[in-house]
Amino acid sequence: MAGLPNMQMLLRPEMIEFGWGHPAFDLLPAAELAEASRQVVARHGPETLVYGAAQGPGRLIELLRERLERIDGQAPPVERMLVSGGISQALDMICSHCTNPGDIALVESPVYHFGLRLLRDRGLDLWPVHADQHGIRPDALAETLRQVEGTGRRARLLYTVPIFNNPTGSTLALERRQTLMDLVARHKIVVIEDDAYRELWFDRPPPPSLSTLDFSRVIRLGSFSKILAPGLRLGWIVADDALIGRLKDSGLLTSGGGINHFTANVVAEFMSNGSLETHVPRLRAAYRERRDILLDAMAQYLPDTCSFMRPEGGFFVWVTLPEGLNSTTLLPQAEAAGVAYLPGERFFAGGGGQRHLRLAFSLLSSDELRTGASRLGLIIRQAISQNCL
Ligand SMILES: Cc1ncc(COP(=O)(O)O)c(C=O)c1O
Repeated sequence: MAGLPNMQMLLRPEMIEFGWGHPAFDLLPAAELAEASRQVVARHGPETLVYGAAQGPGRLIELLRERLERIDGQAPPVERMLVSGGISQALDMICSHCTNPGDIALVESPVYHFGLRLLRDRGLDLWPVHADQHGIRPDALAETLRQVEGTGRRARLLYTVPIFNNPTGSTLALERRQTLMDLVARHKIVVIEDDAYRELWFDRPPPPSLSTLDFSRVIRLGSFSKILAPGLRLGWIVADDALIGRLKDSGLLTSGGGINHFTANVVAEFMSNGSLETHVPRLRAAYRERRDILLDAMAQYLPDTCSFMRPEGGFFVWVTLPEGLNSTTLLPQAEAAGVAYLPGERFFAGGGGQRHLRLAFSLLSSDELRTGASRLGLIIRQAISQNCL
């Protein structure tokens, strides 16, 4: 029946949509997930269909621990893990249990715009911490902490996407990690490490999670949205056992049991039958190819006065426009020419960012990536020439 949408994404005919940071349709493992669903019900029957254990199904937690051990070189203890309904749900649940409206949250700047939205929904007072192509700048963090102290208040948390950041693609430099952790320890701040893109590396694996430096200071949020399918609404939290205990005892999990229990069982099956092991390398190769096609096309079509970063993983290329151009006011012209993107200012809690824009290459085919870059190049050139008059 026409009318109500089934998907969040709105795809406009004839529009090259660089705005959606979603997995490509052809990279969603539909057949393997159907098979995992069939297998898990055949094998475990009612156990998958009742209310689940509050922490998440034991078999998924064990598989996640093994996976994280391979990724980070150490497995989180069982008491420090909880299955979530994805990073968004985890972030919201953590804010609801650990913060009060008006509390100060430091946020990487720029950072995932809907992460900012979630924190704002809980009434938090967001203070930006400047980041560059190597992630959060420790000097900027120290400065923001001084400013907060100057008001007689204290920050509760720092929200960051340190690996293949959304929107910039940057990764926190190794030499900055310890300084950052020392600063947050000194100021008794908890880091919320949004780890959505870690497994989607193109050339080499990124450094281990910040939580391996100090388990007690970091809440690490993982997700199956980018490595499997966002519609599953499944992820996990690794945190201090006191916090995990508090979440496990919450009314939400006591009443409804573990989050998305059936899905969690299907994903456990998908992992244990080896499907994830073959799927993730396929994703890495496909997204690496898309990144390369987009970067080549941008080098060909964008004027030299534009600059952009080369992401080593994830879904995004971050573009800086020539001085005098504004990505927000340019968007209607770009859309009229059949290309859409996200304006940079959405990713800055404290304002600014108008010279930047975010391009997601994850969803688009080779032809669309090239056509999109050429349309964007044309619009930027037109804007430059109008600006000179
Ligand atoms: C950095 C980041 N965090 C979280 C999310 C959402 O994660 P989930 O689907 O697990 O809620 C996204 C999705 O785009 C993201 O880019």
